[in-house]
Order: sequence, then C-alpha cells, then structure tokens
Amino acid sequence: MKAGDPITINRTTLRNRITMAPTVKFDYAGEDGKATEKHIEHYRERSVYTGLVCVEATAVLPGGRFGFSHMGLWDDSQIEGHRAIAGVCHDNGSAVIIQLNHTGAITNPSVGEPIGPSEIPGRGGVMSRSMTVDEIHEMQKAFVAAALRAKKAGYDGVQLHACHGYLINQFECAETNKRTDEYGGDAAARARFASEIIREIRKVCGDDFLISARTIGADPDLESAIAIAEEYVKAGCDYLQVSSGIKDPDPSLVDGTEPYNLICSLGVHFHDHFAGRVPVSCVNSILEPSLVNHLIENSLVDTVDLGRAMLADPAFPNAVLTGADFVKCFDCKSCQYGPRMPHNCPAAAVREKNAAK
Ligand SMILES: Cc1cc2nc3c(=O)[nH]c(=O)nc-3n(C[C@H](O)[C@H](O)[C@H](O)COP(=O)(O)O)c2cc1C
Repeated sequence: MKAGDPITINRTTLRNRITMAPTVKFDYAGEDGKATEKHIEHYRERSVYTGLVCVEATAVLPGGRFGFSHMGLWDDSQIEGHRAIAGVCHDNGSAVIIQLNHTGAITNPSVGEPIGPSEIPGRGGVMSRSMTVDEIHEMQKAFVAAALRAKKAGYDGVQLHACHGYLINQFECAETNKRTDEYGGDAAARARFASEIIREIRKVCGDDFLISARTIGADPDLESAIAIAEEYVKAGCDYLQVSSGIKDPDPSLVDGTEPYNLICSLGVHFHDHFAGRVPVSCVNSILEPSLVNHLIENSLVDTVDLGRAMLADPAFPNAVLTGADFVKCFDCKSCQYGPRMPHNCPAAAVREKNAAK
C-alpha cells in the first residue's frame, strides 16, 4: 500500500490516504457562527493535495462553542458558508467532512451553561450540571440536526468529536460519567449517547453519508476504548479517527522502538483490531513525509491524519506523494497556545518569504 493509493470509505472515495485533521481557527468566525471568507480560503488552500479534509470542530448549539468566534451548524442560515467550504474542497478533488462538537461540562460559562453527564469541575472550577435524560435527548437532536445541515451543505459526511475531553468524551470516560441510568455504567452504556446519535444520523442522512468518529484510543486502557468504538461501528460509524481522551493513555502501549509517539500508536492498535472491517487513522506529531509513508506502507493504519503539518504547509501531502520540498512545522505549539497564538505560525512566515523570492 502507498500513501497515494485511493481508499473508499462507505461510498466516498479518497484519492489518497492523507487527511487533514480538524484544527479549529480561533477567531475566523463572528458571533453568528457563520463560516467566513477566511475559512473558505483556508480550506481551499489545504485541500489541493489531501484525500480528505475534516473541517474543524463546529458547534451544534451556540452554548457549546469554544468561544464567541467559532463556527456553528446550529441554524439553517449557517448552511450557505459551509456549502462554500465543501465546494472549494470538492473543486480541488478532495473529499470533505465536518466535525460536530459540544463543549459540555467544560463550556466557558460566559458562552453557555456547563452541562454534562455528571457534575464535574469545569472551566475556572465552575461545577457542571448533570443533564436530565430529556436534555440528553435534546442534545442528541442538536447533533443530528447539525449533521443534516452538513449534508445539505454538500459535505460527504460528518465526524463526531468524541475525544479531547468534550461532551461525547465526557460520556465515554468513567471518571466524568457517573450516571446510574442507561447513559452510564459499562463501556457500552457510556457509548450510548453517541451511538444513538450515529443511528439517527444514519436514518436521517442516508446510507451513503459518511459517518466518522474521532474517538479515544485509550481512556486510559485500550480495551475499553475499543469496546466503545465497537458500539459506534455497530451503530453505523464508517471510519474511526483515533486520538486521545481525558485520561492519559497507558504509556506501555508503545515500547519506544517505534518511529511514532504514544497517541499515534493508539491508531495503530485500533487498526490491528479493526483491520478489514473499518478504516482507521492515526494522528499526532506526524511532521515528516517519511513517517506518513512508513505508517501506510507497513499497513499500520489505513489513512494518516495531519494537524500542524497541514497548518504549517498545505503542500505537505505533495511532499509525501512526490518528495517535493515543504516547510516543516516548527513544533512550537503557537497555533494552540502561547504568545504567537493564534495565527502567527513561523512556518507560514517561511512560506511567504519563499513565495516572495
Ligand atoms: C490549532 C489547533 C486546533 C485544533 N482543533 C481541533 C479540533 O477542532 N478538533 C479536534 O478534534 N482536534 C483539534 N486539534 C487537534 C489536532 O486535530 C491534532 O489531533 C493534534 O494537533 C495532534 O496532531 P498534529 O501533531 O498532527 O498537529 C487542534 C490542534 C491544533 C494545533
């Protein structure tokens, strides 16, 4: 297998196995949550070589945004901007899905009420409120309605943000989900919140709509994370992108001889388990084309997901496919936090300098 080989997931064909990871743009949207020209240009630039773009975490309700400048899909008026994003990716030959999210118990209280499966300390120590079963059902409907809007906008599918500590992950994780009703308990019960969303999206958006989960690879153990993902697959999930959860993964999942890190190894372990049944990707600190090729050529995963490498240089996939030059991510984390945040990527400055030569 080569990184340039196509792969068909459900009925969507990716022209290669290089995918852009969801990476939120912190201040591109206004309070209306609509996609802006900046978003459209950002994704136009980054879909030139990718097999698939997963558009950043997008709020299913205004109260579940990261802040007041993030995109949403909670209202029909937001469909048009997303149609433009999906359109530029398709025009470039890339498949495109969008990640759906709610911040849940760690919602910034100035944005919305922190609510989740159970009471836990959230932002600034503010305790979240445990959702009633009716509220759980309303929240599920918000995810499904957003997925339907995504379909109307022309996306090939959606991805549930089921990792990194947000609402779905809060249901998955035993430490943040202390419920004693049908939404808490063993792994299957903790997966119920998202599994029911997946089933309903499948019903409403049809058989050919790609449904992905960006799921936890360990929380902290691999077995419970796989048990949760199995529930998602049973419900109709077509594609697992694997990342980290609330608890740190068991460090013994890598032995130190692999050329990739612990979080990336979670995708490799998932691929061992799901191979031939459900495509699996890995992510995290994949900053060299040689590592992408290693992961694909050794059949360690089906697709490789790239966050910062794609932010640093949208032509990174071309470097994987053809050996062309690229600007490497400085690994400075300035796109996530720090004084350069959010849009002062030093690699972008190098690209601009190169372009001016
Ligand atoms: C600026 C930035 C924004 C991010 N936004 C999201 C997001 O919207 N959804 C998500 O699941 N992960 C998000 N992440 C995490 C990335 O998708 C990825 O998992 C992480 O950066 C590690 O991969 P990398 O080393 O290839 O960047 C973000 C990361 C960065 C740097």
